[in-house]
Amino acid sequence: MVKVDLSGAAQFLTEAGPDYALAEIAHKTLSDRTGLGKEFTGWLELPQRIKDTELPEILKAAELIRSRSKALVVIGIGGSYLGARGAIELLKPIPGENDPKVFFVGNGLSADALSDTLRQLGDMDFDVNVISKSGTTLEPAAAFRIFRVLLEKKYGDKANEHIFATTDAHKGVLKGLADEHGWPAFVVPDDVGGRFSVLSAVGLLPMAVAGIDVAKVIDAAIEEFKALDLRSPENPAWQYAAARQCLYNKGYAVEILGSYEPSFRFMAEWWKQLYGESEGKDAKGIFPASVEFTADLHSMGQFIQSGPRILMESIVRFTHSRDSYVFPFEEADSDGLNYIAGRDMADVCKVAADAVKEAHISGGVPNMVIEVPRRDEEGFASLVCFFEMACAISGYMSGVNPFNQPGVEAYKKNMFRMLGKPGAV
Ligand code: PA5
Repeated sequence: MVKVDLSGAAQFLTEAGPDYALAEIAHKTLSDRTGLGKEFTGWLELPQRIKDTELPEILKAAELIRSRSKALVVIGIGGSYLGARGAIELLKPIPGENDPKVFFVGNGLSADALSDTLRQLGDMDFDVNVISKSGTTLEPAAAFRIFRVLLEKKYGDKANEHIFATTDAHKGVLKGLADEHGWPAFVVPDDVGGRFSVLSAVGLLPMAVAGIDVAKVIDAAIEEFKALDLRSPENPAWQYAAARQCLYNKGYAVEILGSYEPSFRFMAEWWKQLYGESEGKDAKGIFPASVEFTADLHSMGQFIQSGPRILMESIVRFTHSRDSYVFPFEEADSDGLNYIAGRDMADVCKVAADAVKEAHISGGVPNMVIEVPRRDEEGFASLVCFFEMACAISGYMSGVNPFNQPGVEAYKKNMFRMLGKPGAV
């Protein structure tokens, strides 16, 4: 289980501290399925369900792709994209010798980005995993049409064998196409919203193709959700949810999530969607932003240290570094760095993190630390379960429906009208 350290937030909280009584009610509302959006709480059992149903098929499909292709093109956006990318960049930032390269497309409408990907893909053998619950989202649907044409050019009447769909179990354009052409179709469960779906085939198939041990992820997630059911202020999800709500009520309206691991960057993007879409509604919500330390200390550091005092900071720290680099000693000390000679880079990074924490607290930024042992399958599962659980509790504490996203439709409506989609108004 992750550990949450609120010591750096203590002086900024209200006198009464985090409202654990409210967190307890929110947790009960969630687990009793009595709250707003209760029909989208299937993610709580998702790891066990996947283990009992689709996991063997996901592993089989991943094995087939790994055995015959040099690349997997994953087509999806939002909740049908960010989790897999976050996981792969965190755990497999550089593909191993036998790992296919995973390309992500359909997450925007940039012709330049698409042609850059096509150039990188070159003449590699590839498979496509198209992921869309609705099947009607323009960005992935448009990219899929382009890649279907490419597959037909490359593989002729075998093109359909290179397509794997992840979509609704029963309805939608993509489901219809999958049935018509015989593509293997994995399920985006009805009771799981996109941003909570990373532990379904949505995230697991691309992760498995990238060489991540998804069975390990699922086993760890099953244990993690059990542990997070703890009904006590010792529950890290309560601590994080209640502390951030307490800070929000005191005017800290923006939360920056940071890490000292650059490979965490897309996990932070996943977190931004999870919290932004779940909490930003009814004119309420903490604006989720992200930073990458130490790099951003040289770009955002000034604002964090002494801009408007609206920021709270949450730092994900991996307590054990995977690698070790000891700084060499140099007799002449020509660069003046002998004061760190003999020290491990990971230790220097820890000192830097402590120094940053002290500086930001003294500058008026409440600091929360989320500690996870390692950047591995278990660590990833812990973070996903923790953030999902805390997000739902935090959303219920603030009185919103954490599982809908009506605001996302506004731009789509305008875009479809402006593009002349039949029936759009
Ligand atoms: O969280 C969500 O529901 C959204 O981000 C969706 O995942 C995103 O809009 C993509 O939708 P779809 O999977 O229907 O293409």
